[in-house]
Amino acid sequence: MGVKGSRSTPWPHLPRFVIMNTEDWSYGIDPGDLPQACPDCLRPFWPIRQPTTLEAFGVSLIAPGEHPLAGLSTDLYFPSLPDLFGHLRRTPPDYIEIFRGRTVDLREARNTLPESLPLTYHGDCLWYTQPDYATRPAFREEERRAIRHMDALNSPWMIHECAQKSMAGFDFGLYAPPLLTMEGARAAREGALSLARALGDRLLLVETPPFPPHPPGDIDLASFFDILVKDSPLAIGLDLGHCLTYLAASGHPIDIETALEWLDSFPLERVVEIHTGGMHFLPLDGSSWPVDDHAFPLPDLLFDLLEKLLSRLSLPSLQGVALEVDNKEAGNAAREFLRFREIVRAHSRPGGTPLPSPTGSSPLLTDYPRHLVREQYAHLARALSGAIPSPYSRHLYDSEIWEFGGNMSELFPETLSILSLSGIDVRQSFVEFFNRVPHESSPGQDFLEIKIRRTAEWLDNLSTTGHALHPSLRAVHQREADLLLHAQHLYNGDPNET
Ligand SMILES: [Fe+2]
Repeated sequence: MGVKGSRSTPWPHLPRFVIMNTEDWSYGIDPGDLPQACPDCLRPFWPIRQPTTLEAFGVSLIAPGEHPLAGLSTDLYFPSLPDLFGHLRRTPPDYIEIFRGRTVDLREARNTLPESLPLTYHGDCLWYTQPDYATRPAFREEERRAIRHMDALNSPWMIHECAQKSMAGFDFGLYAPPLLTMEGARAAREGALSLARALGDRLLLVETPPFPPHPPGDIDLASFFDILVKDSPLAIGLDLGHCLTYLAASGHPIDIETALEWLDSFPLERVVEIHTGGMHFLPLDGSSWPVDDHAFPLPDLLFDLLEKLLSRLSLPSLQGVALEVDNKEAGNAAREFLRFREIVRAHSRPGGTPLPSPTGSSPLLTDYPRHLVREQYAHLARALSGAIPSPYSRHLYDSEIWEFGGNMSELFPETLSILSLSGIDVRQSFVEFFNRVPHESSPGQDFLEIKIRRTAEWLDNLSTTGHALHPSLRAVHQREADLLLHAQHLYNGDPNET
């Protein structure tokens, strides 16, 4: 939530992936780099690790006892992969994590990049936190799409935020946090186990989500994750920046020692991947709030926290540590990766231990009052939309609805100008309408498509609540909506294959 790197494609959704010239990219050992020695075990390691084929270790990136890899997490569109790798010749990543995109583009990425470079998949739109996840057919369709994407990349796993952009019929542009209650944790566990079963042999990494500056809920995030993964096949993706946003939202000071103490209570034994991404601090209501935003540089605080976490706490199953650089200018991403890679190489300890298999001795923990969780999610959505005052609902919600996925002023310039001439405060009116009542959307729908549909419903609502709309308004709106939907399908369509 807030102004963070949500990986939801901004508008316009250009450019698409461009074929890169692999001859220009020398993946492998750079003679200018010298081997380094691990300060813990004195084992020499090479500046760029010898690539490991996935076939060698099944669904793992590394063999047990190897050091975790230093990777980059990005999307296919900005920065473009060719641009990014043009800047990474001397410091290539050990693996790349790629965010959900069109199947055709993911295949092209896999075919274009060196075969020996492992690619992993960052999923989206699989809202397993929701109590209807296991039973709603639309999620089965999204699971098939995700499996197709992982096949395209030959990815050993999927990482996916334990969060949602849609809940109980309310929609948001960015990830909204999960319900931090006992029932919410059990609902997420049920959904995640259902998703993990659908993935077959591939691992599901449930990722610590970002939190907006808003009261986060009744139970601690570490306890929530404990319930979520306990005695299950689920792995964890630990996003350090997201953890800082949780600590801030729950009233903790933002410093290294507090973060490490909290992490010590977290189920670190199931962490398979760590994320760090850019961050900035936003002054709101007299406090400074960390905001996860990958376009920003990584603050020293996150570099230092990563170093201390790797060197002080036990992470036996860790396989990869990824710097998230989506939305970052390629040259800056490459400079940041150099420092990041040095920290991972110097401070990580051997990992890769397979996760313990479920013993079946713990109760399934998936028995919960479904209606109550749905009601709690509706309550959370209304709270975020303004029913409960918080720095987020007061200062950030409005721009998320109006601007994210496409600024309304640019999407519907003529429609809004006709409405403004009749005296309507279009921004206030649309934002107030957007989540006033529940409205169903399908999980794979882009926020832009949801906004287009809600705009038509908003006009209907205006006309039935006493506003005399200009006679040409409907035709103007239809023309603008048709153009947007045509472009959306042309550039971002990803039809399911049979
Ligand atoms: Fe992340």
